[in-house]
Amino acid sequence: MTAQPPVETGPKTNWTLREMLLWATGYLEKKGSLSPRLDVELLLAHVLHVPRIQLYVQFERVLQASEKDQFRGVLTRRAQGEPIAYILGTKGFMSHTFAVNPHVLIPRSDTECLVEAVLQDHAAITTPLRILDAGTGSGCILLSLLKARPQDHGIGWDISPGALQVAQHNAQLLEIPTTQLALHLRDMSQAESWATETSVQILVSNPPYIAPEEESELSPSVRSYEPREALFAPDSGVFFYKKIQALAGNLLAPGAKVYLEMGHLQSGSVVEIFSTPAWCDTRLIPDLQGIPRVLATTYTGVPPR
Ligand SMILES: C[S@@+](CC[C@H](N)C(=O)[O-])C[C@H]1O[C@@H](n2cnc3c(N)ncnc32)[C@H](O)[C@@H]1O
Repeated sequence: MTAQPPVETGPKTNWTLREMLLWATGYLEKKGSLSPRLDVELLLAHVLHVPRIQLYVQFERVLQASEKDQFRGVLTRRAQGEPIAYILGTKGFMSHTFAVNPHVLIPRSDTECLVEAVLQDHAAITTPLRILDAGTGSGCILLSLLKARPQDHGIGWDISPGALQVAQHNAQLLEIPTTQLALHLRDMSQAESWATETSVQILVSNPPYIAPEEESELSPSVRSYEPREALFAPDSGVFFYKKIQALAGNLLAPGAKVYLEMGHLQSGSVVEIFSTPAWCDTRLIPDLQGIPRVLATTYTGVPPR
């Protein structure tokens, strides 16, 4: 009698990478993920500690029990709506990898246009500049600027101690010299904070700008997982632009440049807020979809009112 191949009875135990990719993609699709295949590839690569491309090289590899258990854990988190960046613990921004956790907003690709505008506007200036980032979060804006302009000095503020820890960790990951950066627990809505520095030549900020009454319009994964203090601002979302307009002059050098990210419907209100003699050369910079996303303006030196 010739030997028969073993017949699997009961739940499937031997999963190849290919089978798991297919099955888990269908599972996440049913759970409402908009990018199920990509999510599964990222999660599998994360659990197996391999680059994504290796999944295809190792298509017929059978997953070990411990790998399957770990993958089940992260897949369940994703199926419940947790953002992939929090599960992986990282997010790419301006070709760098930033550590993220639920204390910080996940860096958005739209924010890259703010960084690019600052770099472009100052490309010809090689002398050291002082840059302040109000609401630094993961540090993605400030640290990307410092990486590209190693002669500059950066100051990062945040109201969240957890966010400052993440920014500090990212500074180490990106090997930013400690002398190039100072991170402080500061409340940008308080006048005292703006009296703690002088001669800042570039102010950047992506402040919280979502009106609390718009909370229901956010995707469930943003609403349930990203930090509330990074998202919401009173006064129809423009609270921090008013504060920056009124207070930033205390620490800006005349001629300093200011770059502020804003919501896609806020450009009119934000331009109006900055329509005082304290500011000139105000312009709007569009994001990748062509929507005005960043207000850039110059401090004239006339005290704001
Ligand atoms: C929209 S997130 C931006 C984070 C990061 N700069 C980015 O672009 O991904 C806003 C940040 O402002 C911080 N924040 C909120 N209120 C603040 C305040 N009153 N003073 C200082 N920082 C504040 C939040 O903790 C959060 O890190």
